[in-house]
Amino acid sequence: MQLLLEKEHQQLIDILDVLDKCVLKGNSANQVVKHLDDFVTLAGDHFKNEEKIMEAYKYTDITDHKKEHARLLERLHTLHNQLSKGQTPFGKDYMQLLRNWLEAHLLGTDKRLEEFLYKINAGSDEKDI
Ligand SMILES: [Fe+2]
Ligand SMILES: [Fe+2]
Repeated sequence: MQLLLEKEHQQLIDILDVLDKCVLKGNSANQVVKHLDDFVTLAGDHFKNEEKIMEAYKYTDITDHKKEHARLLERLHTLHNQLSKGQTPFGKDYMQLLRNWLEAHLLGTDKRLEEFLYKINAGSDEKDI
């Protein structure tokens, strides 16, 4: 399951890179929205998968972790709506904001979950021996 989470984290980073290039090239707002669409969909799916794992393993910090996911999704939806209505010119500042959110979540909140899952796996290996 850690591999699945790692894979999905990499996919989120990859889409952000594509979005970054799209913004740097000065592509149309429609194209930027399309990539942001992909990012929002993938983030939503990934959060659901991660939450299922947390529930299955009775992760103690699940409530706060889920709250953080909900906050991130809410911000993403707001940004997406503003951009689709042409209210926000999506530039480097927003790109940096997205990167900061993702980085803070992956390196903080998700890292703690990974360590928890790692300990559980290490424990189950010992029992097998
Ligand atoms: Fe997470
Ligand atoms: Fe995650």
